[in-house]
Amino acid sequence: MSSNFTIEEASFDDWKRVVDLCTETDRWSFTYDDFPVWKKAFGEDKSRFLAAKASENEASADGDVLGFVCMAKFDPNITTIGMYYVQPKYRGQGIGTQLFEKIMQDSKAQGRNICLNGISYMSEKYAGRKGLNNCADWILSILNINGGADTSKIAHLAGNSKVVNISDVDVAKIAAYDQSVAANIDRSKLVEAWLNHPAAWSKVALDGNGSVVGYGAARMVTLDRLVFGPLYANDKATAAALIKAILDHDTSLPTRRIQFFSPSTNDDLFDVLELLSGGNCDDGGYFVSQFTGQLLTIDIKKVYAVSDHALGFI
Ligand SMILES: CC(C)(COP(=O)(O)OP(=O)(O)OC[C@H]1O[C@@H](n2cnc3c(N)ncnc32)[C@H](O)[C@@H]1OP(=O)(O)O)[C@@H](O)C(=O)NCCC(=O)NCCS
Repeated sequence: MSSNFTIEEASFDDWKRVVDLCTETDRWSFTYDDFPVWKKAFGEDKSRFLAAKASENEASADGDVLGFVCMAKFDPNITTIGMYYVQPKYRGQGIGTQLFEKIMQDSKAQGRNICLNGISYMSEKYAGRKGLNNCADWILSILNINGGADTSKIAHLAGNSKVVNISDVDVAKIAAYDQSVAANIDRSKLVEAWLNHPAAWSKVALDGNGSVVGYGAARMVTLDRLVFGPLYANDKATAAALIKAILDHDTSLPTRRIQFFSPSTNDDLFDVLELLSGGNCDDGGYFVSQFTGQLLTIDIKKVYAVSDHALGFI
């Protein structure tokens, strides 16, 4: 196969093409709406989306998107990289390496701490060649419920917290809670954009004093799947209450294929999902959270699902 290509700033059409491609070839879980939401959350100066496009004189590929990668910057010095993808017939020809080098370039020059969630079979490559050799002591498990969820089975777990819609809570309070979990990094713009994602259902848990004790979202992605993320909660009871409230929001949701990208150390989540799925929660592989610099001090026991595994560092 030919590999005459250029690397360009990706358009929304390029993004739509890559969502279709990565769903078809690798069953990745994204949706067209993610692109405008990320753009809104990070802004032009703190994010970049690159597409490798076939050169116009390539009759076989005809200007098609051959590969993709993107990055986002969080203050003070974190850069996340995600959506690293090349069409199967063009793999192994150096397209991915060029995309990766280009997306890392300015963050490397600025000495930023670059991180990604590396899929299991690529993790060693990232650690070796790319210098992403500081790995979290947990793995990011992909958990799937394919046979439907029965929320009545987790009703008894839900504790005393009150679960409300995000419109009922000042988003600054949710962002402050997020920051307390996510290594004290201010992600307020991302929290606001993600919770208002057009394909998502979002809920917040409050204690008796009205303080935020958890929040969560689940969004519809390709292949009729509902992906939870983020799902942060102070305890198992709050996590169960959030999961139940989100799934009960619309009667069709429990019948979807449901996915969580969750730290392997969170046994409480596994307990909840076993009940919710009637023992039919499948292990769909894993990612490794890896950094070029120091690992972040995440309040990991509160993480029941990461925000999004492409551009989120937790
Ligand atoms: C990962 C990917 C984007 C690399 O693109 P590419 O154009 O094939 O990359 P290159 O030809 O520049 O090769 C990059 C390196 O990745 C390695 N690689 C690619 N796919 C691999 C796989 N499945 N397992 C192990 N290594 C792999 C190549 O061997 C090469 O390693 P080397 O530099 O030591 O020789 C592409 O293989 C892909 O889309 N894979 C499926 C999606 C995926 O897993 N993405 C990463 C998610 S974290």
